[in-house]
Amino acid sequence: MRERLGDVAAGALAREELVPALRATRDLDPLAALIRLWWLGVPVSTAAADLPLSELVQCGLLVKVGDAVQASVHLQPWETGGYVVSDRKVRPGDPAVRRDHVVGAGGASANLAQLVTRQPVERALDLGTGCGVQVLHLADRADHIVATDVNRRALDLAQLSWGLSGIEGVEVRKGSMFDPVEGERFDLVVSNPPFVISPHARLTYREAGYQADDFCRELVRLAPAHLNPGGHCQLLANWLHVKGEDWQDRVGGWLAETGCDGWAVQRDVQDPAEYVELWLKDAAEQGTPAYRERYDEWLAWFEAQNVTGVGFGWITMHASGTLDPVVRVEELSQQVELPVGDYLADVLDSITTAHRLTDDDLLATALHLSKGVLEERVGVPGAEDPTHIILRQTRGLRRSTTVGTVEAALAGVCDGQLPLAPLLAAIGDILGEQHLAPTPLRPLIAEGYFHLPTQT
Ligand SMILES: C[S@@+](CC[C@H](N)C(=O)[O-])C[C@H]1O[C@@H](n2cnc3c(N)ncnc32)[C@H](O)[C@@H]1O
Repeated sequence: MRERLGDVAAGALAREELVPALRATRDLDPLAALIRLWWLGVPVSTAAADLPLSELVQCGLLVKVGDAVQASVHLQPWETGGYVVSDRKVRPGDPAVRRDHVVGAGGASANLAQLVTRQPVERALDLGTGCGVQVLHLADRADHIVATDVNRRALDLAQLSWGLSGIEGVEVRKGSMFDPVEGERFDLVVSNPPFVISPHARLTYREAGYQADDFCRELVRLAPAHLNPGGHCQLLANWLHVKGEDWQDRVGGWLAETGCDGWAVQRDVQDPAEYVELWLKDAAEQGTPAYRERYDEWLAWFEAQNVTGVGFGWITMHASGTLDPVVRVEELSQQVELPVGDYLADVLDSITTAHRLTDDDLLATALHLSKGVLEERVGVPGAEDPTHIILRQTRGLRRSTTVGTVEAALAGVCDGQLPLAPLLAAIGDILGEQHLAPTPLRPLIAEGYFHLPTQT
């Protein structure tokens, strides 16, 4: 399809602009007709559409519009294989979105799919499956999949997605939150939930009717009871930034109560106006008579709760079974290596290892500098010493951090040969400092710059 449309039309479509794609498909050859019908969602003359029209009309996938037919659903090939069926995209000027609208797979769906661990599992749960896209990713690594949604229409379209993608045996359950899987446990729970924080639950695909960010908080709170030992729960979430409160404490608080190891990452934060605009535009409400009123009401609601912004991010929980769980909440705005799922286990391992290692253990350990870590020196030209030394990861989460002379020296010598204690003593001798503490190494281990011989 991309070849047929060409880069310009495909790029415009990604910005929700149809005109170049309509121009690229005006010949109405069979592929062009299919693209217009199933992807662009515009009426196509019955003469041009070489399809079993009456069957498709009868089962409701096409509707007649005069001499033409128009698809009632959006059908898209998914990048990693398979097809996704959802409701037709809403564009400016379209009628209001129906409450049970089934949203198509998009950037958020892909983000979650990239985050999810690649480890094969026995039982997986996709909570709020929608068009069923997460199942497309889980199908080749989970023996048994349960997919839930409150929206019957979503479950019907998801089954169509899986049918077209050759995926069989998914167990479908209708219901809210964890209700449909009461008393059941899974090795992996994934959810791209209805995380939008708004004054009213208007659209099922994005709002679940909980107060503020309580839906995501509840997901986090309830998930551990549905995880097998060693299991993971991974979800996308939105959280409030409230005046006078640290957002990290807010999200950390959700995780601290679970007994699981937790890793929450804020990938973006928007101010209240940006947030309201994003979701009003998402439902193609710009330019409608209600736009200003809804915008104003939403902002007033945020204001009443002292909201200064909304964070977008990932939450990962690991039922590691430890008596001393660790929670890390952080902001990562840089482009990370994808898919994160390929190295998620290493990220979690670094965080927990750094947390549990005593200073004595650390001093007795022969650390390695992790692969792909580079050193950057920044300073005044001609000066003997740099003003900053930066360690930069070229792989994985691609973190960077400013370090002191001792850590920079360790980065140069930690090759797994000698324990930390003699290395620190030797560096101390050179710098004229005695008893250098291993403490600054702990955050560098947690963030994956250094690793233990037992880590990969
Ligand atoms: C953002 S869509 C995600 C769809 C799909 N999983 C994806 O990754 O693109 C959220 C889904 O959650 C469903 N949902 C809404 N409220 C829910 C609830 N209380 N319990 C379970 N699912 C719910 C919606 O119907 C919708 O299909």
